[in-house]
Amino acid sequence: MSAEVLEHPAVTSGEDRGKEVAPRCAFVIFGVTGDLASRKLLPALYALHRRGYLHPETTIVGYGRSDWNDETLREHARESLEADPGEFDRATWEELAPRLVYVRGGYGEAEGMQRLKRLLGESQQENRVFYTATPPSTYPRLIESLSEAGLQQSDEGWTRLVIEKPFGHDLQSAVALNDLAIRHFDESQLFRIDHYLAKETAQNLAVLRFANTVFEPLWSNRYIDHVQITMTEDLGVDGRGSFYEQSGVIRDVFQNHLLQLLSLVAMEPPANFDATSVRNEKVKVFHAMTCPAPADTVLGQYVAANGMPGYREEEGVDPDSKQATYAAVRFEIRNWRWSGVPFFVRSGKRLERKATEIVLRFRNPPHIPFSLPAQPRPDRLTLRLTPDEGIDLRFNTKVPGQEIALERANMEFTYARRFERPNPDAYETLLLDTMTGDATLFMRADEVEAQWRVVAPVLEEQDRLTEQPCPYPAGSFGPPEADRLLAGSGRHWHRPGDG
Ligand code: BG6
Repeated sequence: MSAEVLEHPAVTSGEDRGKEVAPRCAFVIFGVTGDLASRKLLPALYALHRRGYLHPETTIVGYGRSDWNDETLREHARESLEADPGEFDRATWEELAPRLVYVRGGYGEAEGMQRLKRLLGESQQENRVFYTATPPSTYPRLIESLSEAGLQQSDEGWTRLVIEKPFGHDLQSAVALNDLAIRHFDESQLFRIDHYLAKETAQNLAVLRFANTVFEPLWSNRYIDHVQITMTEDLGVDGRGSFYEQSGVIRDVFQNHLLQLLSLVAMEPPANFDATSVRNEKVKVFHAMTCPAPADTVLGQYVAANGMPGYREEEGVDPDSKQATYAAVRFEIRNWRWSGVPFFVRSGKRLERKATEIVLRFRNPPHIPFSLPAQPRPDRLTLRLTPDEGIDLRFNTKVPGQEIALERANMEFTYARRFERPNPDAYETLLLDTMTGDATLFMRADEVEAQWRVVAPVLEEQDRLTEQPCPYPAGSFGPPEADRLLAGSGRHWHRPGDG
């Protein structure tokens, strides 16, 4: 499709200045020495600075337990940024580097918090973002100690707390964490992160549906047969074996990323695209979802193949582990729009390729007036989040000639071909939104809890397993048992990444 989209300098030029410069603030990263800070947070803040979104007097405060100082932090940050040589620019870095400062302290340690408080006072930073890039077990104590130090609000500015996923381990712990956070902060100060919401195609779903007329009238059980949401990963647990043993695929990506994508597909049009309106609509979807029955769930675990180790051989993993590294689940939404349309959602580690996509398969036309050897294939709309972000519409077309013969044609939009500048990393968008106070792409307390409620039966199913979940070879398409979910319906799994 030669995408004829609205011409606007913000989308066609190299620099995206669609948003305002963030207000001056201190951006405090708890756990700055960790992996998330070096892979995502520091590069995102640098990219925001490079593109002119970071206020020139904003400071980045790294907080950690290691015996570092400002110089060690700057050195560490520079090394992290140099990992992406295409983005790294020495002069830009040298402008930013002096604004990075380090505070040493434990998570929940009063003296560390006092040091932080002094620093914020001395640098007259009244606006504050606190980011929990620490292990989830530290969140409760971190919240309490911020509050004990009087850092849960500031006299003359705003204070926001960004809480990384996983938000709780199950419904009960998520409720407890919400209760604790709300005891010390106001809900409007809380930014629960799910980076999938900030991926361009996830944001584009709302634009596709609500800024066009052609899609939304088809967006219901009248015309859609079923929806598939697939997130496959080629990597295994990537050095995070002991974390994954506690988490598994349902907690790691279903409760959050995949249910969030599902809600964006299924929600009703909000009156405004703001945090309250959008989150009100998303949470209604979760409330309308039925909990999947055991027959609606297939769990799997990868085993050694193609020169790759099995999950049980990974470091930090129990050699008898029953943890699921793959799941395929059939969800239903019981409301006027979606009743009768199954949502098949699947994800797994160590599959054949990394791909994330949402496929809407349309119903067949009620009557085909042509005499054809077989029923034509149903139309299909694919929203690709990875790789090659974009949107495809597959439909039937006539083959030129004297007879009526059909073939598939594709209308395709890809960001890379349509827009000059690369898509911002999701964290860039989210950190900017945190500083500007826009919570639209963050999860509200009731949303997180509703998501845990939806996956609770699948977690119970996982806990009931007495043997290894369906084994699948590393590097494959997952366990063949997943086909059972679609069997007999004339439906089949779409192969991710295939056109
Ligand atoms: C994280 C999960 O939230 O998302 C990881 O914990 C997963 O297990 C990752 O690999 C995938 O994110 P992305 O942006 O690379 O698709």
